[in-house]
Amino acid sequence: MAKTTARYACQQCGAVAPRWAGRCEACGAWNSMVEELPRAAPPKSLGAAGATRRGRALDFVALRGSTAGPPRQLTGIAEFDRVCGGGLVAGSAILVGGDPGIGKSTLLLQAAAALAGRGTAAAYITGEEAVEQVRLRAERLGVGDSPVRLAAASSVRDIIAALDGAGAPEFVVIDSIQTMYLDTLDSAPGTVSQVRGAAQELIGLAKRRGLVVVLVGHVTKEGLIAGPRVLEHMVDTVLYFEGERGHQFRILRAVKNRYGATDEIGVFEMSDRGLVEVPNPSALFLADRSSAETGEGDEGGGRTAGAAVFAGIEGTRPLLVEVQALVAPSPLGTPRRAVVGWDATRLAMITAVLDARCGLSVGLNDIYLNIAGGLRIVEPAADLAVAAALISALTETPVPADAVIFGEIGLSGRVRPVAHAEARLKEAAKLGFGEAWVPVRPAARGVRPSEGLKVAPVGHLSELVARLSPPRRLRAAR
Ligand SMILES: Nc1ncnc2c1ncn2[C@@H]1O[C@H](COP(=O)(O)OP(=O)(O)OP(=O)(O)O)[C@@H](O)[C@H]1O
Ligand SMILES: [Mg+2]
Repeated sequence: MAKTTARYACQQCGAVAPRWAGRCEACGAWNSMVEELPRAAPPKSLGAAGATRRGRALDFVALRGSTAGPPRQLTGIAEFDRVCGGGLVAGSAILVGGDPGIGKSTLLLQAAAALAGRGTAAAYITGEEAVEQVRLRAERLGVGDSPVRLAAASSVRDIIAALDGAGAPEFVVIDSIQTMYLDTLDSAPGTVSQVRGAAQELIGLAKRRGLVVVLVGHVTKEGLIAGPRVLEHMVDTVLYFEGERGHQFRILRAVKNRYGATDEIGVFEMSDRGLVEVPNPSALFLADRSSAETGEGDEGGGRTAGAAVFAGIEGTRPLLVEVQALVAPSPLGTPRRAVVGWDATRLAMITAVLDARCGLSVGLNDIYLNIAGGLRIVEPAADLAVAAALISALTETPVPADAVIFGEIGLSGRVRPVAHAEARLKEAAKLGFGEAWVPVRPAARGVRPSEGLKVAPVGHLSELVARLSPPRRLRAAR
């Protein structure tokens, strides 16, 4: 009799080991090894009934086909459509990941209802909630009457049977992939092999029948979609739905898209009637700021030092956000750093450059840095705005309220040009900013200033320091 040897698979990276270990050898994750029984026979696809042993010769075709581009279905939720690359492509699989309770089910129920409202047959299959719970949500979102087909199921065999026939819906939401199970596998739902197997079947169905299948994925503590990374390779599009707990707005971010640009974002606001699109996010992220400014005193004293507006780019869209810094003398030997929404390593680099190249002593202080509104910025173009907020906090000199800032800082202290300068300036001009502190550009590639916006180039970080510190204050600070 053949001996069935158990094997252990890491639930984080999918690595397989013959023995259990407290820590995965491959990715270093703790407590992630779970026993999985190998199957005696290689997996057989549920849909491929009567598959023959011998393969068929491939039918090679030319790259140029008769279709101009993939036809796209629009949900009418513009922020969602844009993140999907301008609409949903038939026969594609989309993975939507996000923290618990962030609003994945809400977003997808709204998308399904919007599509159904436009005459596309849409279905919502829930493995996590009861039908009644989804109905209650639909009621609250005001889509109770929409012709979305709803079912509670978790067996992939049942789901495929329901979707593989005539009259099947064109858009299917599976909420969530971790609750689905394949009865041909022995492991429990949510394990690597189940998640992978179930996803494989559902993606196969999408390709075969030309459906759009949206898989909801849970996110681990580390912020990755639970299950193997391989799941992200299997689908066509990976979207992350993110947002800060205490904030109303949510960001849908494309991290992979076979049919469109990545790093595209869609901004929504969570309300009691569900997710509401935010077509002008810059206005949202700067909202608190403008309300503070209306109440400011004669000498501009209403503005506090330590804030600078960064003109960023998210995907193809410009986005203005406020960078806030607080610099305080450190009572302890080791200065404290708290960074929200930005990279702590880059902050360390900028404080080092300010200390070494501009003669400031920022590094000895406690530093708190926050990107207002809970947004997360990854662009190095934010360097100059962060530096401006830090200098402004240290010297207690407010950055002019109508100035936007962007630029990358090199280790020499030189400010380097960044991409999409014109789009950034245009957005700033649109929102009524009067001044832009930007990197110096070679004359040939000079930035065309937008109307009503004064461009004030910054060549070196020390120029920014000079601009933000009245001489007596700087001396006092040192
Ligand atoms: N009555 C309500 N009024 C306002 N907001 C609500 C209400 N009910 C739910 N919400 C919002 O919806 C969120 C839950 O949304 P949803 O269930 O879509 O999240 P999810 O990402 O699917 O969560 P899970 O990971 O648990 O499936 C809550 O965190 C809350 O912000
Ligand atoms: Mg949910």
